Amino acid sequence: MDYNAMIQNRKSVREFQDTKVPESILDKIKQYYDSGCKKLVPSIHTELHFFGCGSREKLKGAAGYHDFMIGNADYFVILSDDADFMMENAGFIAEDLILHMTEWNLGSCWLTFEDGEEIKKALAIESDKRVVAIVAFGFEKKSSKRIYLNIKSMSKIDIDVKRGYYSQHLGIDGMVFSGKWGNQTGVYEEIGDMDHPLWQAFYAVSLSPSYLNRQPYGFVLDGGAVVLISKSDAYTDQNDQKLNLGIVMLHFSAVAAQMTGKLTWTLGSYEKDLGLPPTYKAVAYCRL
Ligand SMILES: Cc1cc2nc3c(=O)[nH]c(=O)nc-3n(C[C@H](O)[C@H](O)[C@H](O)COP(=O)(O)O)c2cc1C
Repeated sequence: MDYNAMIQNRKSVREFQDTKVPESILDKIKQYYDSGCKKLVPSIHTELHFFGCGSREKLKGAAGYHDFMIGNADYFVILSDDADFMMENAGFIAEDLILHMTEWNLGSCWLTFEDGEEIKKALAIESDKRVVAIVAFGFEKKSSKRIYLNIKSMSKIDIDVKRGYYSQHLGIDGMVFSGKWGNQTGVYEEIGDMDHPLWQAFYAVSLSPSYLNRQPYGFVLDGGAVVLISKSDAYTDQNDQKLNLGIVMLHFSAVAAQMTGKLTWTLGSYEKDLGLPPTYKAVAYCRL
């Protein structure tokens, strides 16, 4: 699959056709999950479960932005063993599935949730594992108009209808720094032009979906290392931020790896002082 193309094609879809996703496509998703799906921490055991139409009513109040539930859809839920980095791992896995589903002409939308046990109850999931990701998916309702979520905060989401809408995303400026947080000198020399793996990987990151579209993250280039920085954000809770970070790592490494070969993230803090503001944290790094 061409990750570059699918990352550029993907957007959150919130209105779906009534047509149910056929078993053959669900099988294809499951097959990919079982065999090729990218994992951030392969040692963490996860499970993929599908829930059909009708689940929307069950999830009402338990998943989705405050007072805003997306249209009738199929859903997938990822369950995970309780482990360090299980949320980042879930973000990584689910985003890989989403990008493959984009290639198979399925629209999708991440759903936030606070209480995994409430989700289990709502969907009658009997398992000791933790609910770590929920995604709605299906065939996008074709219309020249799209639901536009004007997201100001969790409790202030205006629903509007616009033509040909895509969300505004971060640019590389203000997201990537050299040596120390805030230093932009030399960044473009290091990233190179549009054919360079780093440029393409950062562009892919800039298109990442994120909770309330806040994109609270950035990078410091430190010699050969690309260090991922998590920014504190008043609106984004820990779990949504960890999912955000997993998604970002998937976008970065899937695109870079297409040009450089396999790329592995090392998770956890970074030893060197990168001049970060007090509430920002280095959370992972990789080398191209
Ligand atoms: C962890 C996470 C949780 C999200 N939760 C919701 C949600 O509950 N409802 C919703 O409509 N969109 C949700 N989104 C989608 C974001 O609002 C969307 O990615 C963002 O607005 C950018 O738009 P785009 O995905 O079209 O690029 C979520 C995204 C992430 C990564």
